[in-house]
Amino acid sequence: MESAIDWHRARALLEWQLELGVDETISDAPIDRFALERALREKAATPAVAVADKAPAPPAETRVDPVAVARQAADAAGDLEALRAALGGFEHCELKKGARNLVFSDGVPGARVMIVGEAPGRDEDREGRPFVGRAGQLLDRMLAAIGLARAESVYITNVLPWRPPQNRDPKPDEIAMMQPFLRRHIALAAPELLIITGNISAHALLGKRGITRLRGTWTEALGLPAMPMVHPAYLLRTPLAKREAWVDLLEIQARLRQGT
Ligand code: URA
Repeated sequence: MESAIDWHRARALLEWQLELGVDETISDAPIDRFALERALREKAATPAVAVADKAPAPPAETRVDPVAVARQAADAAGDLEALRAALGGFEHCELKKGARNLVFSDGVPGARVMIVGEAPGRDEDREGRPFVGRAGQLLDRMLAAIGLARAESVYITNVLPWRPPQNRDPKPDEIAMMQPFLRRHIALAAPELLIITGNISAHALLGKRGITRLRGTWTEALGLPAMPMVHPAYLLRTPLAKREAWVDLLEIQARLRQGT
């Protein structure tokens, strides 16, 4: 039977429900989960010969390792446009299916400063650019305070290029499969220094958590000087922390003036 609504309309309806916070689907007819469990137990108890009749699981070597696929795709990208295309063609991250847009980067490729955020939120997902919502506007004001401008002197990306549903924290496997792309992204953008904002970025690039402890001290990530800072979204919720963020910004400004 032909469906009454087309694919795009059905997807828009689903997205609307996700925005409203729906996180479970319930069918019209009840499901007897005890019966399901019984059936599973009975299936497990069927003799080995019946099991052997079934299609065999694919051998381990034909199963796809998303991290290895990501590494190969990322390493093959010779420039930022090729990397964007490689990410766009990567089909192993579930987040891609729920996202409106790939959020790759913003700012000036080749700028001295590269900022690594966490993941797109709703506004970024809509526009396909990182840090365009309230946190991004605060980030722009912070940068302006030390004479940096997104359109002239910084390059911005995120650990994850797709918005996680309901802005949930990314899962470890999602971060792991995006790592090769992030590393390649930084190598191709070739900044002089990195600003790492928030816990997820600190974990992805430094292998450490605890941004309020890490912030303010220069460290190294992928061979580059890196300044961990609290995330602008945290500053929106915790204005008192702006004082420390200001200290970190002055550190960055001083280092840029020294020529890093
Ligand atoms: N927070 C992030 O970390 N990145 C964005 O792009 C937006 C909000």
